[in-house]
Amino acid sequence: MKRILVTGAAGQVGAELVPALRAVYGADAVLGSDLREPSPELDKAGPWTRLDCTDGAALAEAVRKHRADGIYHLAAILSATAETDPPKAYRVNMGGLFNVLEVAREARCTVFTPSSIAAFGKGTPADPAPQDTLQRPSTMYGVTKVAGEILCDYYHTRYGVDTRGLRYPGLISYVAPPGGGTTDYAVQIFYDALETNRYSCFLSADTQLDMMYMPDAIRASMELMEADAGRLEHRNAFNVTALQLTPARLADALRAELPGFEIGYHVDPIRQRIADSWPRRLDDSAAREEWGWRPEYDLDSMTTDMLKHLRVKLGLSAEAGIGR
Ligand SMILES: NC(=O)c1ccc[n+]([C@@H]2O[C@H](COP(=O)([O-])OP(=O)(O)OC[C@H]3O[C@@H](n4cnc5c(N)ncnc54)[C@H](O)[C@@H]3O)[C@@H](O)[C@H]2O)c1
Repeated sequence: MKRILVTGAAGQVGAELVPALRAVYGADAVLGSDLREPSPELDKAGPWTRLDCTDGAALAEAVRKHRADGIYHLAAILSATAETDPPKAYRVNMGGLFNVLEVAREARCTVFTPSSIAAFGKGTPADPAPQDTLQRPSTMYGVTKVAGEILCDYYHTRYGVDTRGLRYPGLISYVAPPGGGTTDYAVQIFYDALETNRYSCFLSADTQLDMMYMPDAIRASMELMEADAGRLEHRNAFNVTALQLTPARLADALRAELPGFEIGYHVDPIRQRIADSWPRRLDDSAAREEWGWRPEYDLDSMTTDMLKHLRVKLGLSAEAGIGR
């Protein structure tokens, strides 16, 4: 892949994937796009265009003008936001992906599309959720994710489009804020810990979900796209995971760095219901076997790195939060 279009590039993943792609393929080779304006850093560092992925003609024009041969399709409405406007989530998540796949078929582009732990639901074994298993999600987001996985498989088998994808777990990062998912607590807890040394969590203390630090997610996405196609049996929707977190476990890791940190629980029934419908842990052995997936960050190294970067971002001293 030499010339790449990224949709939804101003979001939590795009803010870190675009610079990583530009570092490998060259700044001019990676066109960022979104409905929103990019951050000044993304804007300065390479080409950018405003693009609505539900507009198929505009998408085709962007691919043609950029002479793209690869698309990372990140534009989506995330789980909690999708439940506030399910028709919009259906239009963006299904309509956008359909447009991307059609353009990719005509322009012979490779396509990366993230799925999610939300593609699982009632009846899926929860600990661990196998790579190939029952998928009956109970949210609109999950419905669009499982349908998207199947649509990507279809474009590969029917038209030979090189489609690939990962089921991301909840992603923890410091560059861009999360976009309205059910695992967003695992990011906000860091901000609140540094700023006030306490956090009120919208999920219950023992709600266990898979998570991953963003550098691992970015590396996983790029490694999958570079993997030898001949070794890929699954192609789309590889389970990947790194950390099995509960709010209580994350609070303990924070307390080890920020003594006196306190967590309280004010459970949001909508997000708790979504979380309860997802697996507690994914089995990512197919990704490990087929393209060598390995996470680098564990809970302690992720926590230390997040705090280090957030202190800089928030203009706090290196000791901020310690010894309060
Ligand atoms: N962040 C996570 O924890 C997580 C977990 C699992 C899967 N994913 C998946 O990863 C992908 C990227 O997620 P993210 O966390 O960066 O989400 P995000 O909400 O932070 O970013 C998505 C971006 O898409 C843009 N967008 C929305 N509608 C659009 C449209 N019609 N046209 C163009 N752009 C549009 C938004 O402006 C936003 O910048 C999504 O497919 C998401 O489902 C994310």
